[in-house]
Amino acid sequence: MKILFAASEIYPLIKTGGLADVAGALPVALRKKGHDVKLIMPAYQGILEKVAPIQKSINLGNPFGVGDLLLLETHIPENDTPIYLLQCQALYEREDGPYVDKNGLDFEDNHIRFAALSWATATLALHGSLIEWQADVLHLNDWQTGFAAAYLESWKVKHLPVVTTVHNLRYNGSFDMNQFSSTHLSTELLSMHGMEFYGRFSGLKAGLVYADAITTVSPTYAKEILTPEYGDGLDGTLKAIQHKLTGILNGVDYDQWAPEVDSLIPENYSIESLTLKQTNKLALLRENGLSEDLSKPVFGVISRLTEQKGLDLVLQAMPAMLEKGARLVVLGSGDKHLESAYLALQENYPDQVSVRIGYFEDYSHRIQAGIDALLIPSRFEPCGLTQLYALKYGTLPIVRQTGGLADTVFEGTDNANGFVFSKATSEELEAAIERCMTCFDDKEHWQARQINAMRCDHSWEAVTDQWTALYQSLIEDA
Ligand code: ADP
Ligand code: GLC
Repeated sequence: MKILFAASEIYPLIKTGGLADVAGALPVALRKKGHDVKLIMPAYQGILEKVAPIQKSINLGNPFGVGDLLLLETHIPENDTPIYLLQCQALYEREDGPYVDKNGLDFEDNHIRFAALSWATATLALHGSLIEWQADVLHLNDWQTGFAAAYLESWKVKHLPVVTTVHNLRYNGSFDMNQFSSTHLSTELLSMHGMEFYGRFSGLKAGLVYADAITTVSPTYAKEILTPEYGDGLDGTLKAIQHKLTGILNGVDYDQWAPEVDSLIPENYSIESLTLKQTNKLALLRENGLSEDLSKPVFGVISRLTEQKGLDLVLQAMPAMLEKGARLVVLGSGDKHLESAYLALQENYPDQVSVRIGYFEDYSHRIQAGIDALLIPSRFEPCGLTQLYALKYGTLPIVRQTGGLADTVFEGTDNANGFVFSKATSEELEAAIERCMTCFDDKEHWQARQINAMRCDHSWEAVTDQWTALYQSLIEDA
């Protein structure tokens, strides 16, 4: 099968969150199963230095009036996956991140930047002759590529099956109606059954309504988003097209994320040599100048600091645990209030709390290996990858029972592999951390849970069959 896979971030080229991990790993897993997958993503600043030499450049013209759009054909050196980079200096070559400027504000021309990515994606998917490769299926991810489904719809062309994966419904890519004309999409699409969204237009809604299949990244989130509580204003839309929605859990790239092979951690270990995890714990405490008492647990946070992640609850729950000798290692960035609140906590407990603001891929591996438990009290979590990584490292996740967290972390069952609470309150989180601390004191119990965790198999190989079946059914129906 020939699959064109479009995303706005792909690891190891660029990453702000889990989407990049998924877009970097699922296509590789599909290729291992014999599928012919090609990627498309913008050529952000610095990306060309990370890919193989450009083999071919195709000029798609200047449809948005901001400069020529060039498609650069190359591949990702780490895994040989073919990729088309969409180059346009005015749109993508900026010093900041892929979506926001230095002050954390969305770029004002994001509607054009991602309409252009979507337009190029649709063009490539449709006109295989441009690259001598005709896709059988187009796979879109989140709002940034959702407009591609709208272009195909508005061009009224022969049918090419489209799958849209929702990684996060909260980011709906909606824009003011007076910006619609710069997308060059037909105004016919602006009905409430189309891409109109509360008086605005939305890239995500386009991706949903004009796709042949919608997936989201866990079975529980697939059910949750049909309710007003989790639907972010799209629950009505989704309910009406529920027949094409399924949840397929994300996988993990265990070549990157496994303590046996991880070259970024001080000491490799496995279920058979679990005691070596202590070396990583000690190294992490030393690196951060924290108290080195190994008899008490070290908690960790590796996260975007946003409302979604519920990390305000940790700030309320943690002091009581710190008084009992726990330590906390935080890596994250985002909301400025949360950043300063965590830095203040560090100031109050300099021997017990370490906070690093920023994005550090290597450090996130040392934390996963060095902490005892990872805190993920999310208000909603489409899948969540950090708990899946934690499980593999024998680091027990403490999670709120929602989305992919509910599908992968269990407590009170024979296969208990972490700690789970249900209401997003600091009291419930605190009680879960208490249970974790009690369990930690009972070494046998703790180790049993660690082993359950490390035995979980969330490899991509385990889910690629579901993807293959979905693509196949779409091709047959087309
Ligand atoms: P989301 O995509 O909602 O941010 P996920 O759990 O799916 O949440 O994925 C987050 C990914 O980003 C993980 O790979 C995690 O390790 C990584 N990550 C998050 N924050 C940081 C950070 N500050 N530094 C390094 N990696 C981070
Ligand atoms: C989103 C979600 C996260 C999910 C990731 C990858 O960023 O917030 O839960 O794991 O996408 O699908």
